[in-house]
Amino acid sequence: MASKFQVPRGTRDILPGESERWDRLESSTRDVMSRYGYREVRTPIFETTDLFVRSVGEATDIVRKELYTFEDRKGRSLTLRPEGTAPLVRAYLEHSLGQVDPLTRLYYVGPMFRYERPQAGRYRQFWQIGAELLGPGAPAADVEMIDLFFWILRAAGLEEITVHVNSLGDATCRPVYRERLREYFAARADELCGDCKERLKTNPLRILDCKVPSCQPVIRGAPSVLESLCDACREHFDTVRAGLTALGIAHETAPRLVRGLDYYTRTVFEAYASQLGAQNAVGGGGRYDDLVRDFGGPATPAIGFSIGMERLLMATGPLEIGAAARPDVCVVARDPSATWEALKFARSLRGVSRYGAGESLRVMVDPGGRSASAQLKWASKIGARYAAFVPPDPDGHPVRDMEAGKDEVKQESADSLRGWLLQRRGSAPQEAPR
Ligand code: HAM
Repeated sequence: MASKFQVPRGTRDILPGESERWDRLESSTRDVMSRYGYREVRTPIFETTDLFVRSVGEATDIVRKELYTFEDRKGRSLTLRPEGTAPLVRAYLEHSLGQVDPLTRLYYVGPMFRYERPQAGRYRQFWQIGAELLGPGAPAADVEMIDLFFWILRAAGLEEITVHVNSLGDATCRPVYRERLREYFAARADELCGDCKERLKTNPLRILDCKVPSCQPVIRGAPSVLESLCDACREHFDTVRAGLTALGIAHETAPRLVRGLDYYTRTVFEAYASQLGAQNAVGGGGRYDDLVRDFGGPATPAIGFSIGMERLLMATGPLEIGAAARPDVCVVARDPSATWEALKFARSLRGVSRYGAGESLRVMVDPGGRSASAQLKWASKIGARYAAFVPPDPDGHPVRDMEAGKDEVKQESADSLRGWLLQRRGSAPQEAPR
């Protein structure tokens, strides 16, 4: 149907049928996070602009081209969060969470905003699941984090996961590598795209992340970061890989993996799904041992990841409106004077209690004051399994099996009908099929 308004470019509506898949993804995520001891943090959707410029990095595409930045009425520069790590580190310091537990395990689920060119799997508002572990610097923390990353993806139904891992070194060895890269690319500057020529001046590591086809042959010949790692970083990386092997997590070393944010040190990782193409990672993360200190806190090593929820859902099924959610029963008022009774009877059937305990039945009523036959037609259109009539006959409420088109044994009360329906429902799916 035509409307005068459309959803803003690069954003999308999540409609019934698809929204149930989001619910399931969120619950499997929360379940796995809780099993690993992670607890949720909900930060605001906007933060001061400086927070992202200082952490994600001035020379990154995200900060240079993709921020949604605005001034509020008092002239403060604010930015819709393009990612969740910087806000979480801010909250960690602001509330001294490290004092509650020196190994702080936190997670978040929420929308992020980047002004990117929209295409399949790339949106301007997209959702991320993210986890951060602040405190431990040992390689086993990297392994636990990648294990969690793997099991969140697995629990969401993603098969055949291979994690690509790399090390970006630290403050000792990274500058050496950056200089080697700069020399290599400077000698081949003519073959680079305009953006990469710019990156050569600001941060030559970013060139490794360029997707422009003409840059690829030059990038393929670039020196590998792994040859420049100092002894401590090399040992850390070797131990991480040994740990992943010990835990049976399929992984590949990817020496060109640099990630699009500046805060990383040492281990970085990404996972891809065959359905999404090689350019679209389903998620990624890495170690960021200097960020807490850069924000004014004590030296605190940390590691984390984020997963793009749209991409994960695309990789595990179609993103589209699904079948309608079928009611277990529609309550039909036999004449308009029975409307209140129908609403009350339906409420009893639903069995809602304070803490949402008990099995749920989906019970619907047509409140339109229409004839009983119009209500039945609607019940059949939305796929109701049964219709129950009010007011009751002297021997109970008539109940019709809508599929078989036959009348069942009359039920005395809402309670007896509820028990009868739950028994019959057995294991039939309640939600729209995937
Ligand atoms: P990121 O690689 O920028 O990392 O984003 C993580 C994931 O978010 C991507 O792998 C992708 O699935 C999804 N994503 C990113 N941009 C878009 C987009 N425009 N449309 C749809 N999905 C998108 C981070 O954000 C870091 N905060 C990860 C991290 C956490 N590192 C340490 N801790």
